[in-house]
Amino acid sequence: MSTSRVANAPVVTIDGPSGAGKGAVSAGVARRLGWHVLDSGAVYRAVAAAALDRAIAADDESGLTALCEDLDLVFEAAPAGISVRLNGSPVDDRLRQEEVSVMSSKVASIPAVRSALLDFQRSYRRLPGLVADGRDMGTVVFPDASCKVFLDASVEERANRRYKQLKDKGENVNFLRLFRDLEARDRRDRERTVSPTVPAEDAFVIDSTSMTLKTVIENVLAVVRQRV
Ligand code: C5P
Repeated sequence: MSTSRVANAPVVTIDGPSGAGKGAVSAGVARRLGWHVLDSGAVYRAVAAAALDRAIAADDESGLTALCEDLDLVFEAAPAGISVRLNGSPVDDRLRQEEVSVMSSKVASIPAVRSALLDFQRSYRRLPGLVADGRDMGTVVFPDASCKVFLDASVEERANRRYKQLKDKGENVNFLRLFRDLEARDRRDRERTVSPTVPAEDAFVIDSTSMTLKTVIENVLAVVRQRV
């Protein structure tokens, strides 16, 4: 596969709220197309993890933006979803830790951090194409993407999926707390002034509430075939 960077390489954006299945769908679509994949949530999570490691506070704008200049992240569309390497080492477990999730949502609400990460995210646009997973891929980072998908699911279904995932990992979880946390995170992400989680005007909205992963991937591929 060519890895040369081409400004007009095709891009498929997959945006949506937490727990809608964007990572699994993006990885599945990228594998089927043989394209690159970008997990923009992991970009914010990597900055958050570096801030925690170096004791940089969530309101230290210059400290946080300096971290954005020194990121070495490689994404792979694996059978189980998007896997991430930071400075050559696998970091999936670290990036999914609760303290990193909380810090990443604070880091992601700082406009200076978001703009410091724009070119970095755009540098993943390479031939033969890119599948970009996030909240603002179709609205801000790749507004000229050839195909934009907004993947949604009811809050009950998303909380259920997250609950099962955590239970399978042997974690002790309280469904009601998880549900309320998800609702609160949705509200923050939808109502924030910078890059809120809203569908792009030209996005194709898919509600995955009662769909299997395989069906969602087939639906996205059908949209890609029409538009790319
Ligand atoms: O998608 P994920 O849960 O990994 O995202 C981690 C954090 O980064 C979330 O708080 C989310 O709001 C933020 N994020 C963002 N813009 C993106 C991707 C993620 O603000 N494009």
